Amino acid sequence: MAKIHILKSSGFVLLLVLSVFLNCRNEKSSDKEGVLESYALLLGSSTPLAEITDADCTDPAPTFATLSQAGTTTTCANCHNAGNANAGFDITSYNSTKNRITVGNPRGSLLFNKINTGSMRIYNTNSINKAVYCWTLKGANP
Ligand code: HEC
Repeated sequence: MAKIHILKSSGFVLLLVLSVFLNCRNEKSSDKEGVLESYALLLGSSTPLAEITDADCTDPAPTFATLSQAGTTTTCANCHNAGNANAGFDITSYNSTKNRITVGNPRGSLLFNKINTGSMRIYNTNSINKAVYCWTLKGANP
């Protein structure tokens, strides 16, 4: 009786291990990227960004460092640095970043639009959004 019980439970464990193994065997890691992307998109779109206006920019002359302080180094720079510049964009470089904005006009700038309505929206945060907006508006200082 005890033997049957052990046989039964080890059979169950075996089935469990097999099902996990068989399930993962035919999956490429690139297949999972798509799934992760959809999750990120869903999560991103469920948390709307705070509406930002000129009045929110209390610092009269924010420097370029305010972008990295707001989180662009940790959130964006892994894909936008000197050695790995997706779309040729290095967010750690002042010139590379300034080339993607129109000084004084955040809503007319590629950078702000890309992280609000564009493909980089999923990586944006309120803190990055405000820093980019205010830096662009208030002169894009070095
Ligand atoms: C996982 C990698 C990854 C992360 C993280 C990432 N980006 Fe991107 N970014 C890309 C890729 C790939 C492209 C080119 C395709 C596209 O434009 O969607 C791109 C394009 C851009 C462009 C367009 C540049 C041009 O000249 O066309 C901007 C601006 C940009 N990203 C800003 C950001 C910002 C700001 C962040 C952080 C909030 C960020 N990205 C995070 C991968 C990334």
